[in-house]
Amino acid sequence: MYKKSFNLKPNPLPTMPTYHILTFGCQMNVNDSIWLGQALEAHNFSQAPLAEADVICINTCSVREKPEQKVINTIYRIKQLTLANPKTLVGVLGCVAQQLGEKLFHYTNQVRLVAGPDALAMLPKTIEQLLENPSQRLSLLDFTSTYLEREPGKATKIGPTAYVNIMQGCDNFCTYCIVPYTRGRQKSRPKDAILKECREKIALGARELTLLGQNVNAYGQDKAGDGTRFAQLLHAIADLPGLERIRYTSPHPKDMGVEDVAAFAKIPKLCPCLHLPLQSGSTRILKRMGRGYTREEYSKLVDDLKTTLPAISLTTDIIVGFPGEDDQDLLDTLTMMEYCAYHASFSFCYSDRPGCRAVNFLDKIDRAVQHSRLEEVQHTQDILTTKWLKARVGQTTTILLEEKSPRQPEGSVSWQGRDPYGTIVHLNLPANEDYRGKMLEVTITDFGKHCLHAQQKSSLW
Ligand code: 5AD
Ligand code: SF4
Repeated sequence: MYKKSFNLKPNPLPTMPTYHILTFGCQMNVNDSIWLGQALEAHNFSQAPLAEADVICINTCSVREKPEQKVINTIYRIKQLTLANPKTLVGVLGCVAQQLGEKLFHYTNQVRLVAGPDALAMLPKTIEQLLENPSQRLSLLDFTSTYLEREPGKATKIGPTAYVNIMQGCDNFCTYCIVPYTRGRQKSRPKDAILKECREKIALGARELTLLGQNVNAYGQDKAGDGTRFAQLLHAIADLPGLERIRYTSPHPKDMGVEDVAAFAKIPKLCPCLHLPLQSGSTRILKRMGRGYTREEYSKLVDDLKTTLPAISLTTDIIVGFPGEDDQDLLDTLTMMEYCAYHASFSFCYSDRPGCRAVNFLDKIDRAVQHSRLEEVQHTQDILTTKWLKARVGQTTTILLEEKSPRQPEGSVSWQGRDPYGTIVHLNLPANEDYRGKMLEVTITDFGKHCLHAQQKSSLW
């Protein structure tokens, strides 16, 4: 821990300090930022526009290319926007903070806090301390061996969907991935703490919960875990009254056990969709990635899921241009995409991440080749997505309404929500009512590039 203090007499805190949080990256970061905002509000802070805030936190992600540059650009952009208020306290949080550490202090005097993902629980008090000591800088970069519980945030009504962390970190060390180095080793959160947070979020209005972790199927199996297995946790959460839907992300194909697959048949609240990262369809590349499964084992898992719940649909992550990937490997990925009929996927060109084993692989793929392979993957996905959306027209489904659609038709009001597969569905509803958090049955009437349109079929509940 880095501590530098010039000023022994603390300044009093402003009576109602203000904050602004910028978030990059995954759902875990989004959830961490939501909590930090609520926790700061419990400490009497209020939200303000970027240029006016006393404290600006940048919650960073380092999983893919050039994240450091993005963060540094953001630090300079903040400096420009806050010329009238050079005392603004800037905190760099999350994975880039863990990776670059105290180097971040050198960019501007405003950066006085650098904190890795394991320090999140300590931030509200640390931020107060830094406001009271304007010449102090702090870095919180130690990894913890257990999941640190966070203090409750200000309990305001929340939206109909909410995230709940069930673990932190990852033990897999896939050869391309920086996560084990920035989020540390896997630390499961005790089951009782998770259930408590789920109950609280349901009481505040959540009807759908998404459980978050880097490798959720390995939940409970690390030193910090209480021995509860992931499927047991799912069953316990499903029993909570008031909850309509459960989702989770991300599972690891090598750790999806028989019980995890069976849960799709046994738990009606578990949505019939699964984000199952493939990364590559080639066994040779999967081996170099250190993924711990073959093409055949992945397809067997998909077969088992589809036998267990024929209505299940999958989404995935794909990396193209991994060192040593040839045309046949790419073809293996494309044929796997078709076999699994993913209704959506996130695809990326491989990039070196510091400290990861793949950095030392010599057979790197040319940038232009990576890009043309990415285009092929995305073209294949577009065809699969359209096919999936088109096949859904005429079907009946259930929607959880979230907000008004960005584009409004004349004469009525369009709302959007998500179906059990997570696809956005738009439908017109009578004006002047707040439908947020309501559910209803609809008939799908049409499809767009990534969304569906529908008509109301049942009354709302
Ligand atoms: N290069 C490209 N994509 C990566 N991902 C993780 N590390 C890298 C990397 N070095 C992708 C994987 C992962 C997603 C979150 O980001 O597909 O599932
Ligand atoms: Fe990264 Fe692999 Fe862990 Fe996922 S499972 S976070 S890709 S190391």
